[in-house]
Amino acid sequence: MAVITASGLARTFTTKRGTVEAVRGIDLTAERGEILGLLGPNGAGKTTTLRMLTTLLAPTGGSATVAGCDLARDPAGVRRSTGYVAQSGGVDPNVSVREELVTQGRLYRLPKAEAAARAEELADALGFDGLLDRKCAAMSGGQRRRLDIAMGLVHRPAVLFLDEPTTGLDPGSRAGLWELVRRLRTDFGTTVVLTTHYLDEADALADRVVVVDQGVVAAEGTPRALKTEYTGSPDASLQDAFLAITGRGPAPADTIPVAV
Ligand SMILES: Nc1ncnc2c1ncn2[C@@H]1O[C@H](COP(=O)(O)OP(=O)(O)OP(=O)(O)O)[C@@H](O)[C@H]1O
Ligand SMILES: [Mg+2]
Repeated sequence: MAVITASGLARTFTTKRGTVEAVRGIDLTAERGEILGLLGPNGAGKTTTLRMLTTLLAPTGGSATVAGCDLARDPAGVRRSTGYVAQSGGVDPNVSVREELVTQGRLYRLPKAEAAARAEELADALGFDGLLDRKCAAMSGGQRRRLDIAMGLVHRPAVLFLDEPTTGLDPGSRAGLWELVRRLRTDFGTTVVLTTHYLDEADALADRVVVVDQGVVAAEGTPRALKTEYTGSPDASLQDAFLAITGRGPAPADTIPVAV
């Protein structure tokens, strides 16, 4: 059975100026050990979808299961099995990196010694082992992003949701994160759903991508299948396919009106 299933998942926000249909009915599935890329233009509904799948936001329509738990009926079960790295991180600037990681481990009921060991292990895997005793506020943007990612991994979740995990990371850290995501899959069978605006990243990392536009799924498939279907060539870039899917690419030369 699929580790994630969403059916008609929707979220409408009511604001003073009216209603915003952020997500208008999304169907998606992900299998155990799959790396799923969630792509889409700014405002497409990616973050809203992830916030629903992690129980942080109640859907206004549709249903979903994550790791065998129904979002509406067993939100605690969903939370136990998932890790979430938000688009903007949420670490406390005033405590040390080690403290932040250990507290997170304790929140997930790890014994003290195990939480401490896990903090060291993750810092090592994500390349900030030299920074454990610094205050979170004293980390650079990219270092803090790596800490955000470690926070989502403390309890070894079966499903990991990463919202733009590599924005602001230097090329070495980005490669390190790709490596880590692949290792989570091979070592633990972790299912990873990640959003990114770097289409070379989605191409390299994702087994399958779902392109969301204006709150609905506009296309879905392996990067290779999408390239072939939307550009005619498997050797095209995923960016070309994305632009064709979302209709935001430059107009083909022969459709540009010529003044006579
Ligand atoms: N709390 C809210 N109240 C009203 N509108 C919201 C709220 N949260 C999100 N939206 C709107 O819902 C739409 C989808 O937002 P969302 O953050 O899911 O987009 P996104 O695909 O993650 O975009 P980005 O690539 O810029 O991160 C946007 O139009 C956004 O303005
Ligand atoms: Mg977003």
